Amino acid sequence: MNPNEHGKRVSGLFDNIAVWYDFLNHFLSVGQDVYWRRRLVRFVRSGPTGAVLDLAAGTLDVSVELLRQNPTLRVFSLDFSRAMLCRGKAKIAKHPAIIPVQADGRALPLPDGCVDMVTIAFGIRNILPRTDAYREILRVLAPGGRLCILEFGTGQARIWQGAYNFYLGTVLPRIGRFFSKNPEAYQYLADTIRAFPNARILAGELLDAGFDTVSYEPLSSGIVYIHVAQKPR
Ligand SMILES: C[S@@+](CC[C@H](N)C(=O)[O-])C[C@H]1O[C@@H](n2cnc3c(N)ncnc32)[C@H](O)[C@@H]1O
Repeated sequence: MNPNEHGKRVSGLFDNIAVWYDFLNHFLSVGQDVYWRRRLVRFVRSGPTGAVLDLAAGTLDVSVELLRQNPTLRVFSLDFSRAMLCRGKAKIAKHPAIIPVQADGRALPLPDGCVDMVTIAFGIRNILPRTDAYREILRVLAPGGRLCILEFGTGQARIWQGAYNFYLGTVLPRIGRFFSKNPEAYQYLADTIRAFPNARILAGELLDAGFDTVSYEPLSSGIVYIHVAQKPR
């Protein structure tokens, strides 16, 4: 599938599950997703631009957490699924500093060097090719700015004696299918988690793309990872 067809398929898929997205996120992760996003945002440091890009912002939970932890920030919340952004609208009613933008992460409608930080939670896995997103992220980051990624591990290592792997491959697609009435969506979730590179390979990818001082840390026994990569000064 070429990258544009892939993009259309992914945005259509998130448009379809947007109504259920928040509920299923909290339910399927047993509330851990809230803790994971909070940990991601702790890596964010405000800089000279005072602005952050929350890429693949979805229903805006990371954007709201960014402001909760850093009340003076301006946040551009970008996603190509209109339905996902619309679901998040009520959450930002009291936060005029959050600016939702519908656009593709591979062609950011932002000027060079305009943000100190880019966050992306559970989004980079969906973007193909990832090198296009890295190129655009590097362009909009100010020198020394940071990219903070929250993403699932590969799902290939045995976690909790295989209980997590069974959950990912068998339980999760069935629950997702039942609630969202979309057989494809949660199978897609499990498939993309398994197809994602491990943390070491991703770190290499980020270095090849032009970031420096790349680091990562596992959360919840490696179910998810936070990766931090800095643009050279
Ligand atoms: C799993 S959701 C994550 C949403 C949110 N960051 C969160 O923490 O819940 C992935 C999001 O990435 C968006 N997305 C995927 N590919 C994208 C692209 N190329 N450009 C912009 N958004 C994209 C989808 O529309 C979806 O809202």
